[in-house]
Amino acid sequence: MCGIVGYIGHRQAAPIVMEGLKRMEYRGYDSAGLCVLEQGNLLVYKRAGKVSQTESLLDYTTMHSTLAIGHTRWATHGEPNDINAHPHTDNSGKISLIHNGIIENYSSLKKKLISEGYTFSSDTDTEVLAVFIGHLYERTGDFELAVRSALSEVDGTFGLAVLCADQPDTLIAARRGSPIVIGIGDGEYIAASDAAAIIQHTRQVIYLNDDEMAVMHRSGYVTKTIDDREIDGEIHEIDFDIEQMEKGGFDHFMLKEIYEQPATFKDAIRGRLLVEDGNVKLGGLRPIEDKLRKARRIIILACGTSWHSGLVGEYMIEQLARIPVEVEYASEFRYRSPVIYSDDVIIAISQSGETADTMAAMKEAKLKGATVMGIVNVVGSTIARESHAGVYTHAGPEIGVASTKAFTSQIAVLSLLALHLGRMNQVSQTQGKVIAEALRAIPDQIEKILQTSDAIKEIALQYSHVTNFLYLGRGFNFPVALEGALKLKEISYIHAEGYPAAEMKHGPIALIDENMPVVIIATKDEVYEKVISGIQEVRARRGKVIAIATEGDMSIAEYADHVIYIPATLPMLTPALTVIPLQILAYAIAAQRGCDIDKPRNLAKSVTVE
Ligand code: F6R
Repeated sequence: MCGIVGYIGHRQAAPIVMEGLKRMEYRGYDSAGLCVLEQGNLLVYKRAGKVSQTESLLDYTTMHSTLAIGHTRWATHGEPNDINAHPHTDNSGKISLIHNGIIENYSSLKKKLISEGYTFSSDTDTEVLAVFIGHLYERTGDFELAVRSALSEVDGTFGLAVLCADQPDTLIAARRGSPIVIGIGDGEYIAASDAAAIIQHTRQVIYLNDDEMAVMHRSGYVTKTIDDREIDGEIHEIDFDIEQMEKGGFDHFMLKEIYEQPATFKDAIRGRLLVEDGNVKLGGLRPIEDKLRKARRIIILACGTSWHSGLVGEYMIEQLARIPVEVEYASEFRYRSPVIYSDDVIIAISQSGETADTMAAMKEAKLKGATVMGIVNVVGSTIARESHAGVYTHAGPEIGVASTKAFTSQIAVLSLLALHLGRMNQVSQTQGKVIAEALRAIPDQIEKILQTSDAIKEIALQYSHVTNFLYLGRGFNFPVALEGALKLKEISYIHAEGYPAAEMKHGPIALIDENMPVVIIATKDEVYEKVISGIQEVRARRGKVIAIATEGDMSIAEYADHVIYIPATLPMLTPALTVIPLQILAYAIAAQRGCDIDKPRNLAKSVTVE
């Protein structure tokens, strides 16, 4: 979603800001813009489309500014065009603003400002904020005060950076609900919405909290609250390398990330598995260990792919720990007055740690007294910092918009958690050891599936022209059916639905004819025979069956048009394996259709608005 970069220092600012915007392109956007301060004037360059289109407007040889802000926009208010792109300036042309989030009271503010004679050229809420700051600056002549006063009057969310033409030595950044990271260099500072834009220049960062701002000058910076109380911003170290942000020889980030999964799964369990004890060690849970032991219920909150891993987690935790688990769409949970007890433990699952719905749902749960733990990938992200305790998934930066390695890492962490809770309850050391050994084998098993990717791509070629797909799975693999369908629709734009296999006969069976490919996860487990009946029902209606089966199951070839094998593991761990061929299938179909796989239309990597 929208990206922010602001630079103040001694180097030419424009190329640094534009490079930062390119590093954040993966987040998804529809327009881009830059503002530099050249000889007392704010110059704005912006265009709908790619960052490169804005960059084509620039001639770096004629630019000297060491202060600049830049933005990639994902439209919320107003269509994606040149005018609505950020930065936005006030009526005097002295204030320039880039903004992520939504100003909820922009309409009443706009009316008030129009009645005072101000004019607007865009449809955006951001321009209203720029004009409002400009109005307060005209009255007070104090840039910082104008920003603080404006921000205390607006409702909604913001991550922003703002410049003033009269203040060539000041860059201000602030946040409420939308992330801002401040990179601290040597006499230079970079404010960004994502550490990806900073890593090239410095590893030292401060994560702003809600209602905090940073006022940066070349000689130093202060962090303070929006109501003007100075605070000590804790300095953190960025934990990933620039190489992790590159494609490394793969055609797409998504493919690279699919292939990283043996390593990322290993990283998620590394140092946490006590195989001989049949147990796990999760240091991040220490603060809530007692709450976990006494939890009457667990509620998992997440969105999208993370919600799917939450469903797998539900099955695992209920099976091993016998604690009731509910999995909720974070967006629904926050608005339906949920019943929450103080002995509930909430698990917020998020790759980015910045998903607005998950953050809001988690806040709601905290407000009602529940204990919140996070399962998060991005270190230092808001959900990670605002949880009472948590476990990082350690998957490294996930750049492809379609989530892959984050899903399997979440499965890894959820299986560790289920085992941990299980050992507190009814799981014996011997049973625990079996699970731990099976978990340890998963990375090599993923590797083995990846070696069959050419055969999966062959299957993809045969179905890349279809308009519909159905995905079926049962038990632990029902969420994988949902995830397989989501992957396909996100990147290939083919309509795909996931269903619990047994539900097919209650409706979706009406869709089946010779043009309908049905992906059925039919691994050897307690529901295998039932799933085979489902396959027969599809075949009887001439549907095409692509079965995901367990190695050694030769008989399934009789019923299916295509069989993709995965190595045998415990039923609870099959999702970490069955999802791999579905990721490859979706990728190969989308590649065959010539889709923009890493940046699918209309999608954003982290959804920081409601
Ligand atoms: C799917 C996908 C999205 C995210 C969802 C939640 O491929 O990427 O469905 O899973 O937006 O994002 P996080 O996990 O960052 O909270």
